[in-house]
Amino acid sequence: MYILGMESSCDETSAAVVEYKDGKFEIRSNIVASQIETHRLYGGVVPEIASRAHIEAVSRITTEALAQANITLSDIDCVAVTTHPGLIGALLVGVNFAKSLAFANNIPLVSVNHIHGHISAAYLEDDTLEPEFLSLVVSGGHTSIYICRDHLTLEEIGTTRDDAAGEAFDKIGRVIGMPYPGGAALDKLAYEGDAKAIKLPSPALHGSLDFSFSGIKTAALNYINSANQKGEEINRADLAASYTKAIVDAVVKQTSAAIDQTGLKRLVLAGGVAANSHLRSALEMMCKKKKVTFTVPSRALCGDNGAMIAVSGCFEYLAGRFADTSLNASALDEI
Ligand code: KG4
Ligand code: ZN
Repeated sequence: MYILGMESSCDETSAAVVEYKDGKFEIRSNIVASQIETHRLYGGVVPEIASRAHIEAVSRITTEALAQANITLSDIDCVAVTTHPGLIGALLVGVNFAKSLAFANNIPLVSVNHIHGHISAAYLEDDTLEPEFLSLVVSGGHTSIYICRDHLTLEEIGTTRDDAAGEAFDKIGRVIGMPYPGGAALDKLAYEGDAKAIKLPSPALHGSLDFSFSGIKTAALNYINSANQKGEEINRADLAASYTKAIVDAVVKQTSAAIDQTGLKRLVLAGGVAANSHLRSALEMMCKKKKVTFTVPSRALCGDNGAMIAVSGCFEYLAGRFADTSLNASALDEI
């Protein structure tokens, strides 16, 4: 069967065709129209501009996704669309487009949770992956640890009490003059600095599997401001290295504790920040020590894309959980 996956929860409009055959997924096309250059001018995503850009791109990229997959709409068995969580105006564009497409052409429609989508990218990486497993989702909006009970059920066992790791990277990246989004730029810069140079508080909260990134963000801002006041130049590479190490260490610490607590022997890393090279190798090393199988999607599938939504949508389809014409979007984790 062919699933058309549609994603528009933040600043990427994406449409993808994924084929599901004999229990395996294959990407036939995965078109991503990124708005990064547009939002870079403002140092972050401007929600109204994001919605307008989705409207301009959505029809074109869907046509492109079908053409690249070498199929037509009549070959599509299911339309899967991200309905939550995300920027409401951005989500509504994808949801309304997918609804029109599905109902005008008599194609079953399913609703996909963006977080389930990120985790589902791992099934594209490893077709032997099966629940139950532990999953760490690290993105611009989330930093959470889940037990994936089955393809459609996530049980949250740890989460951030304030900002997400991606937000924390982007904020400091912006303050030290890196282009938006700062995460990828800090990742590279960190290789040039000394991770022990600046002492920063850990975002891992004691006695729980939760995180708090506000303390480390404030500490880094204070460090930058006090250097500015003294007229001293900060060593941006040292800051990038120390900041990255503190975040990576905290994420590894909580994930390692989650593995010990649950006894699960398989970990999936997902979300935009899963592209971070320091995080990928630190988690890989920790898993190796604990004899836990580690799966992380290829970098191209870590960021927002339609293929991951199609995979998650396929599970919804197989469970018979179809959407009707009243389908709506929600900014929240639950619809
Ligand atoms: O999953 P995603 O594409 O969008 C959300 O669902 O939020 O994640 C975007 C986040 C941004 O904060 C971006 O800076 C971060 O992922 N990111 C990275 C890297 N690549 C993207 N953060 C750290 N290192 C990277 N290499
Ligand atoms: Zn995302």
